[in-house]
Amino acid sequence: MNTAENIHTLSDAAPSLEGMVSLCAPAMADVNKVILEKMASDVPLIPELAGHLIAAGGKRMRPMLTLMGALAGIAEQNIPKNMPKDIPASALYLAASVEFIHNATLLHDDVIDQSEKRRGRDTANAMWGNEASVLVGDFLFARAFELMVSTGDIEILRMLSSASARITEGEVMQMSMAGAPDSSLEDYLSVITNKTAILFAAAAEAGARVGGASAPICSAMHAYGLALGRAFQICDDALDYGMDSDKMGKNSGDDFYDGKITMPVILAWQDGNAQEQDFWMRTLSQQDYQTGDLQTAHEILNRHRAVERALAHAKSEAEAAIAALTPLGQSEISSALISGARFAAKRAY
Ligand code: IPE
Ligand code: IPE
Ligand code: MG
Ligand code: MG
Repeated sequence: MNTAENIHTLSDAAPSLEGMVSLCAPAMADVNKVILEKMASDVPLIPELAGHLIAAGGKRMRPMLTLMGALAGIAEQNIPKNMPKDIPASALYLAASVEFIHNATLLHDDVIDQSEKRRGRDTANAMWGNEASVLVGDFLFARAFELMVSTGDIEILRMLSSASARITEGEVMQMSMAGAPDSSLEDYLSVITNKTAILFAAAAEAGARVGGASAPICSAMHAYGLALGRAFQICDDALDYGMDSDKMGKNSGDDFYDGKITMPVILAWQDGNAQEQDFWMRTLSQQDYQTGDLQTAHEILNRHRAVERALAHAKSEAEAAIAALTPLGQSEISSALISGARFAAKRAY
């Protein structure tokens, strides 16, 4: 294949996680073993509750990014063909660690959002109550730290502990913004960067670091994860107004009833007339909901093409993620990462 064709293939890479899934498959099996081992506890409710969430699967995007980072680091090292190119054990532990952080935040998030569905199942809070969910979330956070420490790399510990703090900052900022549709896009972007994108960035960069990647590749993976994470959350927020619950595995329309301020609402508020703004204030801000309000919300959003415009923003974040990959050059790894970034902005689940 000549270079021109190669570039063409890459620029056309379809939105998909398939490339990452197949490159990560062998290592992911080991990561899943680590996850099961570390979920264990003599207190039966812990593995029972955590297992309910973890066994439901999920896309495993964050651990895959860690493994992809490690693969990028290994690829950079020009290891002779007859030498093993195994992913180091520390990358497997880190991949399990980031999935634990993610699952811990989901347990806490579903309590905060009073959500009833997650990964197509009843949420842990719906089954065992808020207290048990919060405590098991804390347990998973603690296990994540044990796994990080096992790498013996203080920089990794710094990266992931700071990411964990920023997730909580993002969730608290979002809580403070609730019910205020006149919030700025800048504030919204700051919330999603903290609560979602930073963990993707840290997952990808930490993997590259333990894979022995050079500083430019580590930074490229960080920038890629950050932009992909923003695309991912903007898309998630758009889906909340645009997708049916069965496909998502969680209830759509939740953000509206929670008074959550997301990109479609901010865009519709900014372009809205006085009557529309009154509607957003009564619902999101005063939490006064009447029959048919969700339908009206959809109509207003449609009038301003707000979901579509949010998805266009997600797409441009995905393209920024792809641009950040330039230092990786063209390979099976970068091609899988490109498809993954496009998936983040165009996913249906
Ligand atoms: C859900 O993340 C939480 C958000 C950041 C929107 P995912 O969509 O990655 O959740 P799972 O792990 O695949 O269920
Ligand atoms: C998920 O956020 C949790 C974090 C990113 C910390 P959301 O509340 O926006 O996502 P869902 O819809 O519950 O998955
Ligand atoms: Mg939620
Ligand atoms: Mg939330």
